[in-house]
Amino acid sequence: MTKTGGCAGPKGFDVEKVRADFPIFQRTIWDKPLVYLDSGASAQKPKAVIDAMTRVMEHSFANVHRGLHTLANEATEAFEGARGDVARLLGAKSDEEIVFTRGSTEAINIVANGLSDDIGAGDEIVVSQMEHHSNIVPWHFLRERNGAVLKWAPVADDGSLDMEAYAKLLGPKTKLVAMTHMSNVLGTITDAAEIVRLAHEAGALCLLDGSQSVVHLPKTDVQALDADFYVFTGHKLYGPTGAGALYAKKKHLKRMRPFQGGGEMIESVSEDAVTFADPPQKFEAGTPSIIDAIGLGAAIRYVETIDRQAAMDHETRLMRKAQDGLKKWNDVRILGDAPGKGAIVAFDVKGAHAHDLAQIMDRFGVAVRAGSHCAEPLMRRFDCQSSLRASFAMYNTEKDVDTFLEAFEKARDILG
Ligand code: ALA
Repeated sequence: MTKTGGCAGPKGFDVEKVRADFPIFQRTIWDKPLVYLDSGASAQKPKAVIDAMTRVMEHSFANVHRGLHTLANEATEAFEGARGDVARLLGAKSDEEIVFTRGSTEAINIVANGLSDDIGAGDEIVVSQMEHHSNIVPWHFLRERNGAVLKWAPVADDGSLDMEAYAKLLGPKTKLVAMTHMSNVLGTITDAAEIVRLAHEAGALCLLDGSQSVVHLPKTDVQALDADFYVFTGHKLYGPTGAGALYAKKKHLKRMRPFQGGGEMIESVSEDAVTFADPPQKFEAGTPSIIDAIGLGAAIRYVETIDRQAAMDHETRLMRKAQDGLKKWNDVRILGDAPGKGAIVAFDVKGAHAHDLAQIMDRFGVAVRAGSHCAEPLMRRFDCQSSLRASFAMYNTEKDVDTFLEAFEKARDILG
């Protein structure tokens, strides 16, 4: 588990320099500077990503894998280069273990569909109470279709995963563990290596949802984690929407049935038979999101230029400052404060609706998310109808936190 920094400002990190890479911060919202604290939902895009996507459209665009002409070769090279960027980001053994997807949701659905022959009536799938719906609903499909049983690892009051209770859920019937590496609501960073180790000890496979962790942790290493599957989405990692990835050990990709059928994913098709291409193509039916994948590659190369440990220390320090600022109000409840948590803070306010607060805060240029954050079981766990969430990224500043707290105070006053 990665440790976050303390309260001292990180060395080797120049937030103004990072911020200057993101054109959106030139605009205002309701005549106020933009304070964007919704990066957990989707992050803003640096010029490097915008330029890479524009360049391929202006200069090197054609369909990939199919052509023999120059543009097809250039586009294929850029697209496959991006696959290499993803493999490097995750520490995969080879590019062949990386399937491009639209994002984490599609990646998890590919796995749920791919394992549907192996998980039958009475077989158990262990998830945690802090999963995003995208790491719950695909497993409900297996519950509904195959009679699989979902087991829920509880979240402790401080927002950490109850590892003892998790270990007790595992047994001979456990076929799969599917868990987040970092909660999109609580900011909790789970002990992913131990989660995988215990799953394997029970003879189960383990999928990790890295949607938030790949953004905030300085390093992801699927081999060290020994994850069977690792998923993430590009748009939270400063890349475009429409491109993310599924990492899977090659042996699983070879065995799993493909999710969608169509062009590119076949080896041969006849009137009465079909055989499939080797992975990862087997899981990439149809023309892929070429431009988005190339944008994702650019996003990965962009974050590689940043001192990521320093960025994480910076983001975490901002989150702590915001969280400490919120604690001055007795009617504010912070949801979870697990040791080593990352740069997300969710909270509710007695007697005020999160949506009303968020809408008023927008008038002060502050963008926060309000609602259940696609995590209804977690909301129920905390007996919370709806919460506000501020999620930080490397481009946020101390001033953003001050404005956030001021806007929150004003919104409270307006709501009385
Ligand atoms: N998963 C995204 C979030 O947490 C949409 O906001």
